[in-house]
Amino acid sequence: MGDMCWPSEFQLQEMRKQVSELSGRDAKEVRVVVSPFRICPLGAHIDHQGGVVSAMTINKGVLLGFVPSVDSQVFLRSRQFKGDVRFSVDKVQSKAHLEQATEDCQWGNYARGAIYALKTKQRIMKGITGIICGFDGLDSSGLSSSAAVGVAYLLAFECANNLNVSPLENIEYDRLIENEYLGLKNGILDQSAVLLSSYGCLTCMNCKSKEYNLIPSPVLATDQKAEKNDRYRILIAFSGIQQCLTTNPGYNRRVSECQEAASVLLKAAGNKNLDPILCNVPPEYYEAHKGELDPHLAKRAEHYFSENRRVRKGLEAWRAGNIPAFGKLMSESGLSSIQNYECGSPPLIHLYEIMVKAPGVYGTRFSGAGFRGCCLAFVDVDKASEAAAFVKKEYCKLQPELTGKMQEDKMVLICDAGGCACVV
Ligand code: GLA
Repeated sequence: MGDMCWPSEFQLQEMRKQVSELSGRDAKEVRVVVSPFRICPLGAHIDHQGGVVSAMTINKGVLLGFVPSVDSQVFLRSRQFKGDVRFSVDKVQSKAHLEQATEDCQWGNYARGAIYALKTKQRIMKGITGIICGFDGLDSSGLSSSAAVGVAYLLAFECANNLNVSPLENIEYDRLIENEYLGLKNGILDQSAVLLSSYGCLTCMNCKSKEYNLIPSPVLATDQKAEKNDRYRILIAFSGIQQCLTTNPGYNRRVSECQEAASVLLKAAGNKNLDPILCNVPPEYYEAHKGELDPHLAKRAEHYFSENRRVRKGLEAWRAGNIPAFGKLMSESGLSSIQNYECGSPPLIHLYEIMVKAPGVYGTRFSGAGFRGCCLAFVDVDKASEAAAFVKKEYCKLQPELTGKMQEDKMVLICDAGGCACVV
């Protein structure tokens, strides 16, 4: 069921029709990249420190319809953003092209970034003509539309240039787009989820070794045969604050604080030659030397070490099909993001506190970085609508100004797990 609702055959046909009109080519030549959004129920903010994370996708995301160009030209339109993006794949070599993009066409930076990344290893001769379209209202909302978009461009350019690239290589290419081209010091959680997920499984990624596995659960989200109490749906509730991480200094600041904490701990343990990231600090060093950290660094480190423990326990709960136990860990993770990682803004904290109390919610936390965007929850399949109504009502009471500007039917979304990005 999770994979069936999005994209619909109608959405695919519409996309083929529009790209055919834009490019003057036959609709049969149009390919569509289906690139889902990701959620990270456990393992927040530890990917950039080499921690072990859990992730999955939802059955909503980005569609990119395209035809390969006959030459090196790229021509793109967006259904959400203004302006046409035009460039030649021959010309994108450095970040200099990023600065040249006009305000209206900043959205094209992910496409330029994809070419920048691919050209570090591949020969790219052909551009594409295409239309990109995110699921209505879900951009910059904490579901990693940026990774979904980056991956979509990578897959489209690879297809147009007849390249066969593995998911692990694409994880690295997307890292180049975000870390090098766009300057965000994020980890590899988002694109790993988008590229590796499989419906019904939790993707578990060791962000240091890049080893991963897909862990099936005996409980499928909406499986009619599963025990009623254990089936779940995914609730996504929006705070009303949308801002790209690349324009919010908070994310990179926290990454630097984690590195400072790692530096102090490694030095205290006489191991200062190792890379200053927290996965290089064994938990026993942390326990022995945490008293030497400044209070704010001690909190960041506490988040890292406690989150790793929660992921480990969460994977066991998932394997056993124990969604209530998994959910409890999610809410604990959410609390640690508020108290230790301190990345929640007041509206998001309100949303978290409401979601914890909502009927049928097994567990909840901020989705993504937590500075803006949404909260996600796993909720009892039979109580999803009741929970959504409760969250909407209570959040409107606490945040009348923000919610006054939101479309009522877009405030809370009920969805299901999805699969991985692919070209259809
Ligand atoms: C953002 C980043 C990810 C990850 C999450 C928090 O989505 O892009 O790399 O750090 O925040 O878990």
